[in-house]
Amino acid sequence: MKKILITGGAGFIGSHVVRLFVTKYPNYHIVNLDKLTYAGNLANLKDIQDKPNYTFVKGDIVDADFVNELFTLHKLDGVIHLAAESHVDRSISNPLEFVMTNVIGTVNLLNAAKNQWKENFSAHRFYHVSTDEVYGSLGETGMFTETTAYDPHSPYSASKASSDHFVRAYHDTYGIDAVISNCSNNYGSHHFPEKLIPLSIHNIKNNKSIPIYGTGENIRDWLWVEDHARAIDVIYHQAKTGTTYNIGGHNEWTNIDLIHLLCKIMDKKLNRAEGESAKLITYVKDRAGHDHRYAIDSSKLQKELGWVPSLQFEEGLTKTVDWYLNNEAWLSNVTSGDYKKYYETQYVKR
Ligand code: NAD
Ligand code: TYD
Repeated sequence: MKKILITGGAGFIGSHVVRLFVTKYPNYHIVNLDKLTYAGNLANLKDIQDKPNYTFVKGDIVDADFVNELFTLHKLDGVIHLAAESHVDRSISNPLEFVMTNVIGTVNLLNAAKNQWKENFSAHRFYHVSTDEVYGSLGETGMFTETTAYDPHSPYSASKASSDHFVRAYHDTYGIDAVISNCSNNYGSHHFPEKLIPLSIHNIKNNKSIPIYGTGENIRDWLWVEDHARAIDVIYHQAKTGTTYNIGGHNEWTNIDLIHLLCKIMDKKLNRAEGESAKLITYVKDRAGHDHRYAIDSSKLQKELGWVPSLQFEEGLTKTVDWYLNNEAWLSNVTSGDYKKYYETQYVKR
C-alpha cells in the first residue's frame, strides 16, 4: 500500500484532491496534514472521513520538528503539497504569515523529504501545487506558458514564486523527484467566501452589496476545481521528474461579466426578477497592485498527458450556486465569528 501525504487537505482544492485520491485509489493510504486555519474545515471531508485508507493529522508545516517526526512516523511514498495561505487581500495586510507558511513551510517539507528519502529519491515524489499568479500580469494578449519568466506582484504570489524556486532548487541540487503545477483561478464547492465567486454568491443570497474592485475589467481564467484535482492526479502519476505543467480552463472572464452571469443564474434560482441581483453590484476601491489579466496556456498538459477540462463555465457556475444554496449550514458556519471581523476590516472600513 502506498502512503501519500496531502498537505492542506481540509481547504478548498485540497479537500477535492483528498476525496479523489481516497475514493479512486483504495490501495493508497492518504494522510491529510492540515493546520485548520480559518480556511481549513473538516466538514469539507465528512463523506470520506471514516474510510479505512484515510488519516487526518492536525499540524503546522512551519514547525520543522513536527514535520520531520511526521515523515519518520509515516514512511511516506510521496507528498502532494497544497497547504498555503492563499488569499491575495490577506497577504497585503499580513505578508509575513505568507512567508512563514508558503516559504518556510515548503522548505520544512522539502528538508524532511530530503532526509527521509535520500537513499532512493526516484521512488518518492514531491508534488508542489502552485499558482499562475507567479507569472505576474498580462496585457490584452498572450498567455502564460511554462517558460514565462516569473514576475510576482502581490505578497501572496511572491511567496508562492519563492516556494516554487525552492522546490526546483531541491530537485536540481539534491536530486529530489519534484514536479510543480501552476493553475489558474479555481471555482466550485467548499470555496471559502472571501474569494470573488463564493463571496458574491453569499452576498447575493443575503441581499448585500457585491464589491467589485476598480473598474471590474480585470480578467481571470476560471477552472472547475474538480478538473484541477483530476489534473493533479494525472501529473502526480505521469509527469517526468523536474517537470512543470500549467493548468487552466481557457476560460477568461472580466470580473464584471462574470458577476453579471452569476447574478443572472441567481435571479433564476432565487425566483427574483431578472436584473434584481445585479442591482447589488457596487464598485469599491481597487486592490493595491491588482494584476490586470491572467490566462493559462495548458497545451503542454493536454498534449503530453491527455488532460482536458470537463465542464463549460455556465454549467460549472450553476452547479456551484446549487451547492452553496443547498449547503446553508456550511456557509453560515464559516461566515460566523472571525469572518465578520475580516469582512468589516476588508470592506466596510476601506
Ligand atoms: P485554501 O486557503 O482554501 O486552503 C489552504 C489549506 O491549507 C487550509 O486547509 C489551511 O488550513 C491549510 N494551511 C494553511 N496554513 C497551514 C500551515 N501552516 N500548516 C498546515 N496547513 C496549513 O487554499 P486553496 O484555494 O485550496 O489552495 C490550495 C493550494 O492551491 C495553495 O497552495 C494555492 O496557492 C494553490 N492554488 C490555488 C488556486 C485557487 O484558485 N484557489 C489556484 C491555483 C493554485
Ligand atoms: P480572488 O477571488 O481574490 O482571486 P485572485 O485575486 O487570486 O485572482 O479575486 C478574483 C478577481 O476578483 C480579482 O481580479 C480581484 C477581484 N475581486 C473583486 O473585484 N472583489 C472582491 O471582493 C474580491 C474578493 C475579488
